[in-house]
Amino acid sequence: ESHTSSTGGAETEPDGLIFIGKEEDIKKSQRITAKINGREIVVFYHEGKFNALDSRCYHEGGPLCHGEIEDINGQACIVCPWHKFRITLETGEGLYEGINPLEPTPTPKWQSKGVKQRIHKVTIDNGNVYVSPPDLSVSFDSDYFADKYKNGGELAM
Ligand code: FES
Repeated sequence: ESHTSSTGGAETEPDGLIFIGKEEDIKKSQRITAKINGREIVVFYHEGKFNALDSRCYHEGGPLCHGEIEDINGQACIVCPWHKFRITLETGEGLYEGINPLEPTPTPKWQSKGVKQRIHKVTIDNGNVYVSPPDLSVSFDSDYFADKYKNGGELAM
């Protein structure tokens, strides 16, 4: 006999994955926003890969879903529309352009600040795209804005 599955709320697969959309639809639109447990995320389809991140930038909560994608040293990055921070799609690392003044001819180089933006694991199954629920035992800078904007709430200025 089957046990009952959850009812109401987000569409959830038996194994806990959260349904985001049809693979072919997201390939066409290239990006889609979704709510998982009230949290805004964005799923990008870029150069054959799906990547999901918190949609509110770790810096001040800018909407990454409206950013441009840029290639930096072979890494696809979303450029936040608010202050142009770069975040790698694959790892959620914040990048910055730094100069080493000790070099003979200092030139700016892209460097990582570490993982700042929470990424979400994407699973493709049978033409459907799912993300895994976030592991909240680990925290990231973007969690602050994910909470602020939870359930469509506006950030008080
Ligand atoms: Fe994204 Fe400032 S809010 S760069």
